Amino acid sequence: MSNLLSVTRAARLVGVPRAELQKRIQHGELCSFDGMLSVENLLACYPQAELEDTAELQRIAQIKEKAFGKRVFERALPEPEVLAARVTELSRSLAVSQKQVRQFNDLLGRLWDKVAELRTTKTPVDTAMAEIGEWIKQEVALAMEPGFNNPLAIKDGVLRVMAAQVSLLPSRQDFLVEGQDTLLEAAMRAGLSLSYGCSGGNCGLCKAKVLSGEVKQTRHHDFRISEQDASSGYMLMCCNTAVGDLTIEAEVAGGVQDIPFQQVSTRVKLIQPLSEKVMLLHLQTPRSQRLRFLAGQSVVLRVGQTFSALLPVASCPCDDRNLLFHVHRQNGNLFADYVFERLRANDSIEVEGPQGEFILHEKSERPLYFFAFDGGFAPIKSLIEHAMSLEAGEIHLIRIGSDAEEIYLANQARAWADALDNFSYVEKIAGFDLRTLNLHREHVLENMLAEIAAQYSAISAADVYLAGPEAAIKYAERYFLALGMPKSRVFVEVVK
Ligand code: FES
Repeated sequence: MSNLLSVTRAARLVGVPRAELQKRIQHGELCSFDGMLSVENLLACYPQAELEDTAELQRIAQIKEKAFGKRVFERALPEPEVLAARVTELSRSLAVSQKQVRQFNDLLGRLWDKVAELRTTKTPVDTAMAEIGEWIKQEVALAMEPGFNNPLAIKDGVLRVMAAQVSLLPSRQDFLVEGQDTLLEAAMRAGLSLSYGCSGGNCGLCKAKVLSGEVKQTRHHDFRISEQDASSGYMLMCCNTAVGDLTIEAEVAGGVQDIPFQQVSTRVKLIQPLSEKVMLLHLQTPRSQRLRFLAGQSVVLRVGQTFSALLPVASCPCDDRNLLFHVHRQNGNLFADYVFERLRANDSIEVEGPQGEFILHEKSERPLYFFAFDGGFAPIKSLIEHAMSLEAGEIHLIRIGSDAEEIYLANQARAWADALDNFSYVEKIAGFDLRTLNLHREHVLENMLAEIAAQYSAISAADVYLAGPEAAIKYAERYFLALGMPKSRVFVEVVK
């Protein structure tokens, strides 16, 4: 086990979110050396890190379906839990052996010093031999004692078998590759937006250069990599996985300008009511042509020549094949009428885009406050799922609905709050249409925002994202600017 660990690997080993380690680095509780943490320092901060902590094994169980899905492996390998237990046991013996080798090396050095000492004191040979024999007996007994085992070394041994770490240059980001994920899938799961196109080995846009480590091709690709590129270490991230720890050179999207305009023919996979007013529309792209977008962006949906709508994507870019939308029924919205009354599973819908700049400002380490007014929950949900992939620090979701029908999918928000220590959820019902405000309604809204600001006293030092009907979010924007927040930390998106 190296004495220096990346923040990603360290977080996995001690079983805490990456954001927690980053906060400790900022507060000076952990020392970072060029973005890496020392094992000793980590153990000093997390002395409770024990092998008995089963978080890693639980995680292994979660990925077993993917990791050992093929029948050939099912026949050739023992049960995943048995295999994981054996790897753990081997890692434990390896850690003990490594420690003993170090102790014997040390003993040899001290033996040499002992011989030199006996020579200088001119001890008679018989006495010297007897003394040295007794000395060696005691020292060897000490060296054979297993003593303290570094629990992180054992866990690291397991982790290295189950997950390889990939470091990206020049962005200096890193992520873990688990199970049968390709490099591209693992990067997307970690919330990184690498350059890619088809995800299926056809376009060559995910070409990246291996700087160190070994990759293995796990999927067929039609795109041909020239011999010169192959010999320089280039490979396709959508068709290769990491054999062990890896460093690759690949570009990460720096903003919306790096995402190309795309046209994708999708099929309706599911239409399902979320409330009386809101319909979930689940579209699926072809395997070979997915939609690359940033969380919070919107696309145009077209049904034939007649019906179209600009809608925010309500899902995470980490699943670029399954696109979710929340369609709100409103007077005069013909697209929504079509979705509610005529659209059927397997119908075809053209998707064009993405567009919009309501994206997560990933470099900020401030707490995140997401305000979703009515249909503003769609882009906010996408942003929250992306923030979770990035293991962001504090996340707060506040939903304000015109009525109870607009607080759809509340169970999902409550489940996030139950499952995550760093997530809080508040919902409020205005009791009037948030698209149209008057003095009385503004007063009600102001009281609600004031209650929230009182509940979260640190909000003015955070990043605030507002999405929903124009009247409500413009009012909320003015409210937060009046609290003294700079415009550069209040992000707004109008969702009709
Ligand atoms: S994304 Fe098209 S070849 Fe990899």
